[in-house]
Amino acid sequence: MDIEVLRRAPLFSTLDDDAFRLLTDELSEVDLSRGASVFREGDQGDQLYFIVSGKVKLGRTSADGRESLLAILGPGELFGEMALFDPAPRNATATAVSETRLAGLKNESLVGLLRSRPEASAQLLQALARRLRRTNDSLSDLVFSDVPGRVAKALLDLADRFGRPATDGVLVAHELTQEELAQLVGASRETVNKALAEFVQRGWLRLEARAVVILDMQRLRQRSR
Ligand code: CMP
Repeated sequence: MDIEVLRRAPLFSTLDDDAFRLLTDELSEVDLSRGASVFREGDQGDQLYFIVSGKVKLGRTSADGRESLLAILGPGELFGEMALFDPAPRNATATAVSETRLAGLKNESLVGLLRSRPEASAQLLQALARRLRRTNDSLSDLVFSDVPGRVAKALLDLADRFGRPATDGVLVAHELTQEELAQLVGASRETVNKALAEFVQRGWLRLEARAVVILDMQRLRQRSR
């Protein structure tokens, strides 16, 4: 397992080398291919997961079967902690959107760690606060921004976290289909397609399979406001 990625994860970054090694001995590796679920909304949970490589989408399904995405997470990020801290069924379904490797940590190991290393709790709280902030931003955007604005913002956020320099811009290999991108911004696929086509026509980005290349970051940023 590429445990160096975990060094950056909340919970691990405050640990000294000995504590880090002890904890990594307790991790179990989970390998997933695209489309495979780690767990489903409503399941019982007894462990949380760190993403070592790949990406995971967290989604919910409405009573009439429509899907909505809460977040896309990548290497170094964690999920599945809510069922541990506030015992209740899983709040969302976690599905790999690319080849993904996870490291699972059982509830008992986490509780043991937090008892012996209280400073690790602060890291965890920070990660949870950051997530709440991000969720609040998305909620406000749903109310205050139009669909093209939300698409621009989502692409900039994905670029921030997963972007890599390309010859003519920033390559964002988000791994999402247009349907999934629509689920992430809370709009129909048709409206999101239209927004993307408009951005392409203006020369702000280029579409690739499950990726975009952002050609004009500044214009996209202006459109996201
Ligand atoms: P849990 O309820 O155990 O399983 C589903 C997980 O999805 C949950 O823990 C959180 O880790 C994660 N999750 C729930 N809501 C959000 C959100 N708004 N943003 C990011 N992750 C979330």
